[in-house]
Amino acid sequence: MANNLLKGKRGIIFGALDENSIAWKTALKAHEEGASFILTNAPIALRMGKINELAKACNTEVIPADATSEEDLLNLFTRSVEVLGGKLDFVLHSIGMSPNVRKDKSYGDLNYDWFLKTLDISGVSFHKVMQAAEKTDAMNEWGSIVALSYIAAQRSFPDYSDMAQAKAVLESIARSYGYRFAKTKKVRVNTISQSPTKTTAGSGISGFDVFYDYAQMMSFLGNASAEYCAKYIVVMFSVFTHMYTIHYLFNDIAYSTIILSNNF
Ligand SMILES: NC(=O)c1ccc[n+]([C@@H]2O[C@H](COP(=O)([O-])OP(=O)(O)OC[C@H]3O[C@@H](n4cnc5c(N)ncnc54)[C@H](O)[C@@H]3O)[C@@H](O)[C@H]2O)c1
Repeated sequence: MANNLLKGKRGIIFGALDENSIAWKTALKAHEEGASFILTNAPIALRMGKINELAKACNTEVIPADATSEEDLLNLFTRSVEVLGGKLDFVLHSIGMSPNVRKDKSYGDLNYDWFLKTLDISGVSFHKVMQAAEKTDAMNEWGSIVALSYIAAQRSFPDYSDMAQAKAVLESIARSYGYRFAKTKKVRVNTISQSPTKTTAGSGISGFDVFYDYAQMMSFLGNASAEYCAKYIVVMFSVFTHMYTIHYLFNDIAYSTIILSNNF
């Protein structure tokens, strides 16, 4: 059931790769709630072509941008404001990739060039996105910027490898840029730590099935689905959450709290 929560709101959604992606579900939900937005992904991911199906369903267009390229991002924000016909009210950063995880490198044998790539793509890109938004003056007051994180940013989670460091960087950037954007523009910046979710990025982590099942067992309502994450993100984009900024929010049915109480 739609409630017009985002009626008249404009935004950019990064990271819809296929129908399992959290960004994909968010785009569908945001569209249902009345938003207009641009979809974007790295040029290499766009070659799959799937995102065009989503763009059609959401009556929008795709503007390619590698989230590590400042030039791509400046172009993305400038063009999005033009295409959508006004400044933006929301941005979703739903981006993650580690070459070390992809190539199954053990944590004691990391390739450091790849490690820096992981940090750039999955962490520093959040800064680049917000810097491009600021430099192009693309955000409306009370706009909302959300990035997706994981509990490994804060707790020991060996299988998450160098992605744990990338998520720690991401959450730290949310604190620093959140402060800056709140003061200059009343723009809100938050991260949402999501339950293990069966997506391309999620399933690429070694032992994913084991920690998916473990989290499923420990979270008293089961793992939170990508659909529920999408709903949460839409609420974070809406006027109901104007007083939220620089929070690490959780969409994991208290799994992270249970880890603490069990001294895991
Ligand atoms: N799936 C999980 O278990 C889980 C849990 C917690 C947090 N997250 C986070 O949720 C977010 C979305 O991931 P997902 O699970 O939907 O997987 P996904 O694989 O569907 O999405 C990851 C996206 O990142 C994009 N990407 C990679 N490199 C990029 C680049 N250089 N520029 C622009 N985009 C790039 C990919 O093309 C892809 O669309 C990520 O930040 C991920 O770390 C996922």
